Amino acid sequence: MPGIALVGTQWGDEGKGKVTDLLAEHTDLVVRYQGGNNAGHTIVVEGERYALHLVPTGILYAHCIPVIGPGVVVDPQVLLEELDTLTERGIDTGKLLLSGNAHLIMPYHLELDRVTERRLGKNRLGTTKRGIGPAYADKATRVGLRVQDLLDPKIFSAKLEVALKEKNLLLTRVYGRLPLDQPEIEEQYLRYAERLAAHIADTDPIIQKALDDGKTVMFEGAQATLLDLDHGTYPYVTSSNPISGGACAGAGVGPRDITRIIGISKAYCTRVGSGPFPSEADPADAEILVEAGAEYGTTTGRKRRCGWFDAVAGRYAARLNTLTELVVTKLDVLSEFSEIKVCVAYEYEGERYEHFPPNQTIFNKCEPIYELLPGWSEDITSARKVEDLPKEARSYLETIESLVGTKVSWASVGPGRDQIVDLGG
Ligand code: IMP
Repeated sequence: MPGIALVGTQWGDEGKGKVTDLLAEHTDLVVRYQGGNNAGHTIVVEGERYALHLVPTGILYAHCIPVIGPGVVVDPQVLLEELDTLTERGIDTGKLLLSGNAHLIMPYHLELDRVTERRLGKNRLGTTKRGIGPAYADKATRVGLRVQDLLDPKIFSAKLEVALKEKNLLLTRVYGRLPLDQPEIEEQYLRYAERLAAHIADTDPIIQKALDDGKTVMFEGAQATLLDLDHGTYPYVTSSNPISGGACAGAGVGPRDITRIIGISKAYCTRVGSGPFPSEADPADAEILVEAGAEYGTTTGRKRRCGWFDAVAGRYAARLNTLTELVVTKLDVLSEFSEIKVCVAYEYEGERYEHFPPNQTIFNKCEPIYELLPGWSEDITSARKVEDLPKEARSYLETIESLVGTKVSWASVGPGRDQIVDLGG
């Protein structure tokens, strides 16, 4: 009963879609367990490029059942638009399962995400403005509306009334905005309900049965370890738990149901939005990484901040997620450099930190300690076996492996499905 968790080890955008694609052939269910349409998975299947935000990548494979689990926050308008686009491209979207316990992103969540970011000014988090944080906040304070509420107009209306009363006070009195109109929202959401009803399911027993039947279930994380609400670089994080432990709560399985935990890491490091980033590169090197790695966000189009591989963060992610293996993506991007930096530790007030610092003051102010590794100038995009890689690239991967303490099972060398070097994964 293999349950496989796929988690990002950095600040997101590590190329998780590529790894789903590698494993898809032998996967029966692909379950999203947290986040919402703040995510962006780019995936190339049979030469076609897809950018998915909310729908699990499993939708692209005829034999896979995609599941949106209870831990996800769902903007129904975005979901329906994504399904329509996929249907137009010939994908069977009828098989999508949507947990009735997932929470809904409501119009006031979008509005609140925008106005709070504006109010924070230079302290803003740089959110994706998709209403993620406010929707999770309502879930925690127990005034959220869930997908199953769409199936009962009376309950939907009663819950909306409670939530909207408070939200309209906030919007009008604190933020000086216009109030939102209950009948308008109700009409809009009950229209979505008509189309979503066929997808709404009690997903927990479906996932459990698949595991019991010996099927392969992939738990697909969005965002990544350092954006985790509890373990990431708070407050510059997302509002859910992307770490592997989050898959249990967000999908409704126990820890023993997950036996393989694959961490995805870029060969360098990127982050979008605000917050500390110790191994951020100087502007000239960052620009090379942006251009060679096409480092622009799938969801917001923002240019990503770029830096060097951070082994301290790598070790942290390996431990927090109990990784069984690591996949290194975008190794080809580093062909641009004659010398490659790797952050092996941090330094703060003369003290060396091999492990993630215990508090944010240190993390915010620490300096990276770099080791310099020789680069390679060869184009490695057609490498498929480890012997095809120049010795410097092999040694780079070995260095990552030993610094992080986790076996590297694959390295990707380009966006295409076949551009992958199998290192024994
Ligand atoms: P939110 O998830 O929209 O609330 O944004 C909170 C933080 O997480 C911001 O710094 C975002 O840029 C970041 N973030 C959210 N989703 C992703 C993602 O899929 N990739 C990378 N960063 C993300």
